[in-house]
Amino acid sequence: MPSNPNLAEPVPAEPVDPHADLSSVLPLTAEIREGHLRVGGVDMVGLAREQGTALYVMDEAHIRHQLREFRRWTSFHASNVETVYAAKAFMCKAMCRVVHEEGCMVLCASGGELAIALAAGVPASRIQMHGNNKTIAEIEEALDAGVDRVIVDSLYELERISAAAVDRGMTQAVLLRVTPGVKPDTHGYIQTGQEDSKFGFGLNHGLAMEGARHACALPGIDFAGFHMHIGSQIFALQSYSKAIEVMVEFMEAVRVETGRTVRDLDVGGGIGIKYGLADEPSTIEEFGKVVVDGIKEECERQGLPVPRILIEPGRAVVANAGITLYTVGTIKELPGIRTYVAIDGGMTDNIRPALYGARYECLVANKADRPRTEIVTVAGKHCETGDLIARDVPIQEVETGDILAVCATGAYCQSMSSNYNKQVRPGVVFVKDGQARVVVRRETYDDLLRCDVG
Ligand code: LLP
Repeated sequence: MPSNPNLAEPVPAEPVDPHADLSSVLPLTAEIREGHLRVGGVDMVGLAREQGTALYVMDEAHIRHQLREFRRWTSFHASNVETVYAAKAFMCKAMCRVVHEEGCMVLCASGGELAIALAAGVPASRIQMHGNNKTIAEIEEALDAGVDRVIVDSLYELERISAAAVDRGMTQAVLLRVTPGVKPDTHGYIQTGQEDSKFGFGLNHGLAMEGARHACALPGIDFAGFHMHIGSQIFALQSYSKAIEVMVEFMEAVRVETGRTVRDLDVGGGIGIKYGLADEPSTIEEFGKVVVDGIKEECERQGLPVPRILIEPGRAVVANAGITLYTVGTIKELPGIRTYVAIDGGMTDNIRPALYGARYECLVANKADRPRTEIVTVAGKHCETGDLIARDVPIQEVETGDILAVCATGAYCQSMSSNYNKQVRPGVVFVKDGQARVVVRRETYDDLLRCDVG
């Protein structure tokens, strides 16, 4: 029995090839030169030493490439498609500008995200506003900004939006979020499309139909269509096909009941990415085909016109674009148990292993050309036994002072980071064409004290 209860669950014994090529989980521009990992033409070892660690590094070319792929493989199958980047995966002003420059919209999940998108200069007409319990203030902020769509999660919220719109003498276009009753094969915490969910209007018991009827009748509301989001890190595209079938059938039921033909169908995000070398997610091309062709076919079957189609990828845009750099500190070899390699970060900059049991590939950035012959557990510096970034992972022979790179940390790491133990949050550097630019600076102790006014 392992003595650490957090390690009690056995890690699947994957055959470890010390020479395995990590390029499929690294940013597109990653390369190894003179033993060092480079991204965007920038030496990661030099960057870590210059900027300090922990540090998030994002490959701008990779992000742009992913956004273009989504646009390419959706517009290949239909003309009226919008890629709406889900900002919760990773957001800062520089990211919003990249998204906007690439012709994509921004999906905001809170007033804070909306404020950042607007501060970045994204026009409100290119922003969608989301959230399962928007405050009245957030609803008002979205309406005042003039966002393209507010995605509505409940009757209560619909009434609040109607009242705020009437107050302002305006009409707000909305989508109703429907839970299609499809349970994708992913971690329970990130399944959202099943019937028992805090999100959206359920189809059973007539809740979604009641929502549609209200949306048609309430003043100040322009009922533009429906939204769904079945979960995240989904590999099996059949879940989308099934949900699309249900949604389009419902669109027809709504047409019969209310006489309204919806203009928008938003299928949410959720396309999975490759964290580990054994992961086999679908491609953006396959996703585009399943979603867009699926909607076209179902609409044809129901005799409905094809609506504007919206997709909301988050993780698939940024996850593999990012790496986190750390400096190795204490190394503890526990004979017959395992070796702990401690780093100058942890669950404050990447909560995903502790929260979801997420697994990451690692390498030593200053020994990147050597085989990964050791098996170690990468431990964070925080006061929690579960503060582990990678359990029993292959890595190069590692020493204190080495620069450790954790792959595929571009999504839901910085955005879910915290100040636990009053750790300052790392900065974010965008790299491109041999240039590194700090887009989010590292926090200082002054930042920790900024709101502490007592
Ligand atoms: N649209 C909606 C309405 C969403 O709620 C989400 C993510 C997305 C789009 C983007 O999903 P993506 O393409 O990134 O899978 N913190 C978790 C993921 C939570 C996802 C929440 N919603 C994680 O670290 O795995």
